[in-house]
Amino acid sequence: MTILITAGPTREPLDPVRYLSNRSSGKMGYALAAAASAIGHRVLLISGPTNLDIPSGVDFVPVESAADMYQAVATRIGKCELAIFAAAVADYRPANFASDKIKKTDDVLTVDFVRNPDILGSARKEMGFEGILVGFAAETQNLEENARHKLTRKKCDFVVANDVSRRDIGFDSNDNEILLVYPDHSQPLPRDSKEHLAHHILEAALKLRPLPSS
Ligand code: C5P
Repeated sequence: MTILITAGPTREPLDPVRYLSNRSSGKMGYALAAAASAIGHRVLLISGPTNLDIPSGVDFVPVESAADMYQAVATRIGKCELAIFAAAVADYRPANFASDKIKKTDDVLTVDFVRNPDILGSARKEMGFEGILVGFAAETQNLEENARHKLTRKKCDFVVANDVSRRDIGFDSNDNEILLVYPDHSQPLPRDSKEHLAHHILEAALKLRPLPSS
């Protein structure tokens, strides 16, 4: 099977030396890519900047901004049977990119932001993806309810939800504790390493449709 995975943060440039980003380490997405590659699948890992080593055997597509990631996904998702969106994509980008470094002048600098495209939310309609679609939901409250809303809105087969208000798991941590949210039920997976959870997530995704015979 060919599997597309997005991972890591995006960087939204403000001027040639500055950007807006987030604390995503990319560990969950890279663990998924490593797990999928280890059991013989072809993996396209589309990743924002991280400090991680590229898992062996993976086709790696480095990107910076959400717009770059959108293009990278849109041109490749058609060849994939499963897509897992683990990237922490910035929801907004600076409305204007200053081609020269912004100088300090006034005491207050105001920056306007505009919405980025929702890559996962575009997979079904704009990109016409018909394979298995898995999203992530990082929430600080109403975990299951917010994840279920995302599942419906973005037309996923299931959403991997985790509570990012906890400092011991999730963002930038080696461990996670997750809830797999399906249209008709939810399945909690207790705290474990991202590597172990990656295997469970992958197994859950691969169970949804029969493997092609080839
Ligand atoms: O709406 P929210 O950002 O919470 O949704 C999270 C899910 O959507 C994740 O799977 C993330 O990778 C994906 N996403 C995306 N493009 C965006 C925002 C989120 O693919 N612009």
